[in-house]
Amino acid sequence: MTETTLTPGASAHPTGASEHPTGASARLLAQAEEVRTRFGTPCYVYDRAGLEAAARRALAFPAPFGFTLRYAMKANPSRGVLSVFRDLGLQIDASSDHEVERALRAGFPAEKIQLTSQMPSRRLGEFFDRGVVFNACSLHQLEEFGRLAPGGTLSVRLNPGLGSGSTNRTNTGGPAASFGIWHEYLGDVKALADRHELKITRLHSHIGSGTDPDVWKRVTRMTLDLVAKLGDVAAVNLGGGFKVGRMPGEPSTDLQDIGEHVTRELMAFRDRDGRALHLEVEPGTYLVATSGYVVATCIDVVDTGRDGYLFAKLDTGMPEVTRPSLYGAQHPIDVLATGRDQADVVFVGPCCESGDILTPAPGDPEALAPRRAARPKIGDLVLVGGAGAYCAAMSTINYNSYPQAPEVMLEGDGSLHLLRRRQSLDQVWTNEV
Ligand SMILES: Cc1ncc(COP(=O)(O)O)c(C=O)c1O
Repeated sequence: MTETTLTPGASAHPTGASEHPTGASARLLAQAEEVRTRFGTPCYVYDRAGLEAAARRALAFPAPFGFTLRYAMKANPSRGVLSVFRDLGLQIDASSDHEVERALRAGFPAEKIQLTSQMPSRRLGEFFDRGVVFNACSLHQLEEFGRLAPGGTLSVRLNPGLGSGSTNRTNTGGPAASFGIWHEYLGDVKALADRHELKITRLHSHIGSGTDPDVWKRVTRMTLDLVAKLGDVAAVNLGGGFKVGRMPGEPSTDLQDIGEHVTRELMAFRDRDGRALHLEVEPGTYLVATSGYVVATCIDVVDTGRDGYLFAKLDTGMPEVTRPSLYGAQHPIDVLATGRDQADVVFVGPCCESGDILTPAPGDPEALAPRRAARPKIGDLVLVGGAGAYCAAMSTINYNSYPQAPEVMLEGDGSLHLLRRRQSLDQVWTNEV
């Protein structure tokens, strides 16, 4: 990664240096106690001002011939979050039929929703009739679309041959990824399109989450080389994946820098090919990651002797923030206490599961990495940051029968507005027969 494409801590700490690693606004820090009193802990809190600011930065992505910003709603499909982006004019990338349904119910018009799914759609015909943009992610999906909607118009997702993610698990391009149609099968794509008289008007690639910006730029060129071979393509979707610094000092992608690079590529393509391509990008993480928090309580403090570790047990862990136990992902953690000495603390969750660790070593979910923090006490409020993306959406809910946590929006005027109630215990077993 280069300095020109990454801005240290740009989005995690938009107001500059903060003594609070989560970068939470003074307002949220002051209101954490109110969150606990009104909604209990653990509780997700989303900061509307942060969501809107990220969307505005992304909407300013440079593009010479038209631009569409899609929100990859898999990152956080909460209706409250969707409606913030709907009101700012964003469109949607949905990753299942169910997400399409959720976006429709959140008020997005069908034609502003794109379906990019690993699972062949069971509602393809209906969605096509309503105007949902179909993004074929395999030759099988393309064939199915051709049979259902001969003569139809669609998008195709290609695996351009190269990927990059913050970990191998989040890399969705290159030979080790099953996502999209392998670029060498372009001939088969064309043959299927010809057989069913399909018009491929968009080409799509998404190469991973937490992508190295330099790789993203290289893939732009590779994708445009593929567009050159498909004469009907008028729009190119370069996916999401923009790396976001969740931890203090960690770099975030500079969208202006990346956008200027893409602009040069699109203009050069127009000079070579004659087509002025409409540009789409579809970030998830970038739009939501640093505007989400989990407000939690320290429920116990234990240690394993002089040569061991000091553990703070929180009432949040893998049921709300699964990424650390899955990828060794790093989330900032604030113990909201003043005047305490500092200690090296391993933060763990409430599950009877040795993997329920909030502070693993970076990229290594099996190793402990104690954090320097205010020495925790039972009852302390604790804030886990960077929890807007792939947390509520990708949680191991109901493990140990803990009910799913509520979601709350911190509004611009400082009020707290409930988006989703805490699951009741009855709801945990309601489908048992
Ligand atoms: C097709 C597609 N588009 C966009 C995204 C969003 O990626 P990110 O959250 O890294 O921006 C994903 C995430 O996996 C995806 O699969």
